Amino acid sequence: MGYLVSDNRKVTTHRFMEMKQNGEKISMLTSYDYTMAGIVDKAGIDAILVGDSASNVMAGNATTLPMTVDYMIYHARSVVRAVNRALVVCDMPFGSYQVNAAEGVANAIRIMKESGCDALKMEGGEEILDTVKRILDAGIPVMAHLGLTPQSINKFGTYAVRAKEQAEADKLMRDAQLLDEAGCFGITLEKVPAQLATEVTKMVKCPTIGIGAGNGTDGQVLVIPDMLGMTQGFSPRFLRRYADLNTIITDAVGHYVEDVKTGDFPNANESY
Ligand code: KIV
Repeated sequence: MGYLVSDNRKVTTHRFMEMKQNGEKISMLTSYDYTMAGIVDKAGIDAILVGDSASNVMAGNATTLPMTVDYMIYHARSVVRAVNRALVVCDMPFGSYQVNAAEGVANAIRIMKESGCDALKMEGGEEILDTVKRILDAGIPVMAHLGLTPQSINKFGTYAVRAKEQAEADKLMRDAQLLDEAGCFGITLEKVPAQLATEVTKMVKCPTIGIGAGNGTDGQVLVIPDMLGMTQGFSPRFLRRYADLNTIITDAVGHYVEDVKTGDFPNANESY
């Protein structure tokens, strides 16, 4: 059981709502594979996001756009096999829900069936509201994602903070209200001013989960290779690094190479 976690029951979307009502902050991290998800779950995380950021940190793509439904199912299924307690939320990838509601529902059902995850996350506001409602009607919990939505990076043209201008902030507030009223169980707010995120959090019934959205949200999410210091050359202001695994892994691999080259590994105790 992890730090400051006393409740060992499986986290559900219902529990997510309770946590907001009780003023208990929600912890969320991404994971994409069995081994990491098992560690993260045992450490006491409340929710694991199988993010389409797998496209960047697992596959080395520049954006999340190449991610497919098949790849998301592969990653989510690997995570689900390792997890006992955390709520597992899987991203719907670019192209899987933007065409029309029927296609969105079909892809949502497929991801739920084949991955075994607990809920889905979708980027966008009013533009995708009809599809979100249809997916909710199918019995699938949806977490919304507003602010910097990486699947629209080609439209934005920059990863800079969103909704600094009043018109975009007003739209974000309206979108959040519509998604909350539709029945989303959470809203991710990415890279928006802290004050705006706090206002959204106070306005909506469902919990908000921030990344680069300040401390006024109901919870926080980070991309795990970033917060563990595995990735390099990515240092946005919102990112706190909790370890320097890049150095630790580099040292360990270097040591192994040396031991193999010198004949030190394996020794007699490590042989049959
Ligand atoms: O894909 C992802 O990792 C995400 C987080 C950045 C919220 O959507």
